[in-house]
Amino acid sequence: MGLGHVVHVLACPYCAAGLTLADQVLRCGNGHSFDVARQGYASLLTSDAKTGTADTAEMVEARSAFLAAGHYAGLAATISAAAGGRVVADIGAGTGYYLARVLDEHPGAVGVALDVSKFALRRAARAHERIGAVVADAWRGLPLGDGTVDAAINVFAPRNSAELRRILGPGGALVVVTPTGGHLAELVQRLGLLSVDEAKDARLREQLGGDFTLESAQPYQERLALRPAEVRALVLMGPSAWHLDRAAVDAAVAELPDPFEVTLSTTVSTFRVAVTTPG
Ligand SMILES: C[S@@+](CC[C@H](N)C(=O)[O-])C[C@H]1O[C@@H](n2cnc3c(N)ncnc32)[C@H](O)[C@@H]1O
Ligand SMILES: [Zn+2]
Repeated sequence: MGLGHVVHVLACPYCAAGLTLADQVLRCGNGHSFDVARQGYASLLTSDAKTGTADTAEMVEARSAFLAAGHYAGLAATISAAAGGRVVADIGAGTGYYLARVLDEHPGAVGVALDVSKFALRRAARAHERIGAVVADAWRGLPLGDGTVDAAINVFAPRNSAELRRILGPGGALVVVTPTGGHLAELVQRLGLLSVDEAKDARLREQLGGDFTLESAQPYQERLALRPAEVRALVLMGPSAWHLDRAAVDAAVAELPDPFEVTLSTTVSTFRVAVTTPG
């Protein structure tokens, strides 16, 4: 099963020792143990972890339905072309959609899906045979050994530069997808979605620049023609779900032309672990 493929790269969140998997329990050599849930994922959250930003069951349901329709397949293909290797980690993996596409393109690879939402990981654990799904907080130490990962992907999700640097091996790639200022602009106007500030790319380079070198920043843009139910799912799968009134969303969606054209506008940035030469 999925976790069996990746147990060799997992590390205890309390003591950083390696883990073994037996009888649906992950254990380190220092007496810490973690049950594998019936749905196939394991939680390696420490007892003081903060889970308030985890996607809710409703958001995950919306994300799963929207992505299954294939609207972001082109973006997934772009990510798959940039990320490969034996071990691929997806930080803030959500339902595991992008990681599963990476593994489809790289038949020898295994993937670790990390997310703080158990609802997301129930899906990620089933998204691909070679995915192991682990609940973890991206702002804490990631439960992966030093240098165990060949490529990391991070799609619209939180990123912790020092930890990403630590888990990646020499020459490791970090592929980050961020929205541009024009992302879903039509919905920002019509439905009051949160807008993306234009400085996001500069902030990304600043955030990762100490640990990584930017190798390429590729725009990925597409016009999507969406049915009303798809627009609703797109709205409710994202951060605006935290503050939008559901009745107002339904009313606004009912007013939209069918289909409604929406702009997907992102930057796919590939970073490499910075090589430091001794002084
Ligand atoms: C916008 S969704 C993107 C999910 C996925 N990458 C995708 O594009 O389909 C952001 C994800 O980050 C997760 N998340 C939020 N805070 C987190 C944290 N502190 N650590 C790990 N994941 C977190 C959420 O649960 C959610 O699944
Ligand atoms: Zn331990």
